[in-house]
Amino acid sequence: MTIKAPDLEWLDGDVPRAQGFDDTYFSRAGGLEETRHVFLKGNGLPGRLHGRDTFTIAEFGFGTGLNFLTTLVALRNVPDAPALTFLSFELYPMTADQLRRALGAFPELSELAQDLIAVWNPEPGWNRLNVAGARLLIGIGDARELIAEIRLQGPESGTEEGGIAPVDAWYLDGFSPAKNPGLWDADLLKAAARLTGPGGTLATYTAAGWVRRNLQAAGFTIEKTGGFAGKREMVVGHKPDTEED
Ligand SMILES: C[S@@+](CC[C@H](N)C(=O)[O-])C[C@H]1O[C@@H](n2cnc3c(N)ncnc32)[C@H](O)[C@@H]1O
Repeated sequence: MTIKAPDLEWLDGDVPRAQGFDDTYFSRAGGLEETRHVFLKGNGLPGRLHGRDTFTIAEFGFGTGLNFLTTLVALRNVPDAPALTFLSFELYPMTADQLRRALGAFPELSELAQDLIAVWNPEPGWNRLNVAGARLLIGIGDARELIAEIRLQGPESGTEEGGIAPVDAWYLDGFSPAKNPGLWDADLLKAAARLTGPGGTLATYTAAGWVRRNLQAAGFTIEKTGGFAGKREMVVGHKPDTEED
């Protein structure tokens, strides 16, 4: 696989839009606030970070790294914060210059953005980075293929690093389902559910009917809740603790 950076257009000066998908990476109404509303609050974060030794977040679509860095900011404000593993996937990794421009719109993230860009050198397959003490495991390639290579920690995990701990929270952040159906694929969401621990949660900005059905078929219990910036609905969910949950 050769790496292909996205072809971008910049809306309102600093909101990247992928020409190949005809969609923006985050809301023009405010990317940082959207991340906090949809992905953090939607997954009960930062509250659920308290009292944990380790915490695992997984994401479909690393994009600009905005979700990752916003999570690191939240983590910094948690006393005795857990060791974070952040697993993400990206088929079209941005160049360092593209990241710099996209993240430059968020002064609050500037220090962490520099830390990310300093170690950013995406290679096909698995990239293991350390950003401000968090472990960033990023699969460069198609999430539908790479997810099959992830093993959960355990005596039989057989992977070099012994696998990952079960996912506590998912950020489902593909481009809109109509434009990027592959990242909302039924088999991909089933694979995500298999990697999720009991009680693990998900959040996504879309409430598209077929995405909800794929999530339910994968075994998640879901509900609609209020979306960001005038969007009536988004979806949150969890993997039941027990059959009866
Ligand atoms: C809405 S953007 C993600 C925004 C990102 N979470 C952020 O914080 O900036 C969707 C991302 O999914 C990526 N993507 C689309 N299809 C993919 C696939 N099949 N496998 C992996 N990544 C994919 C796109 O290249 C894009 O970066």
